[in-house]
Amino acid sequence: MEVRDAMMQRRSVRQFTDSLVPEAALQDLMECAMAGPSAHNLRPWEFYMVKNKALQDKLRLVTRYSTMNSPLILIVAGNLDRTIPGEGNDFWVQDCSAAVENILLAATSLGLGSCWVGLHPFGQAVKKVRDILGLQENIVPLALIHLGYGGKTPPARTQYDAQRVHIYEENDSEEAGK
Ligand SMILES: Cc1cc2nc3c(=O)[nH]c(=O)nc-3n(C[C@H](O)[C@H](O)[C@H](O)COP(=O)(O)O)c2cc1C
Repeated sequence: MEVRDAMMQRRSVRQFTDSLVPEAALQDLMECAMAGPSAHNLRPWEFYMVKNKALQDKLRLVTRYSTMNSPLILIVAGNLDRTIPGEGNDFWVQDCSAAVENILLAATSLGLGSCWVGLHPFGQAVKKVRDILGLQENIVPLALIHLGYGGKTPPARTQYDAQRVHIYEENDSEEAGK
């Protein structure tokens, strides 16, 4: 599938079939995740692939919006031991978000459904995930991704809005930016 097609076809799937995600697809998703860009190429990410049903059931309850019935839950987390000291410290959020989007697009291209559930900066959700998975304080769960074959998949659509694109033409005066 072309990248553009994956971007347009990716939708949040909130209802899944029981079919398991093949191992080869999981490996592929991890490779795609780690192909993403990161500040200073520090790759401050960790991926927790939760196949265990008892742990999944606990993870479904970490927020009010995470209850979907996916056969696989993936947690994408930032590793604070791998971040840039000082002002650039928070770049880990962008780095990990790029990895999340790569996973969602790769999943779409493999015919899988996915849904991104936000964790950080919700402190309670972060703590609950840490407790459930036994993670240290230096690991910050950023996103919970539901993965599986979509039972109900919303249709592709565009959200293009010309009003949100702001162009500074070559011939505009410098005053235009003030
Ligand atoms: C940071 C972030 C957090 C999100 N958290 C949730 C969530 O908790 N539960 C949920 O069902 N969807 C969540 N979503 C998915 C959005 O609701 C969804 O992307 C948006 O409604 C647009 O729909 P689409 O993904 O089908 O294009 C989240 C998306 C992002 C980027």
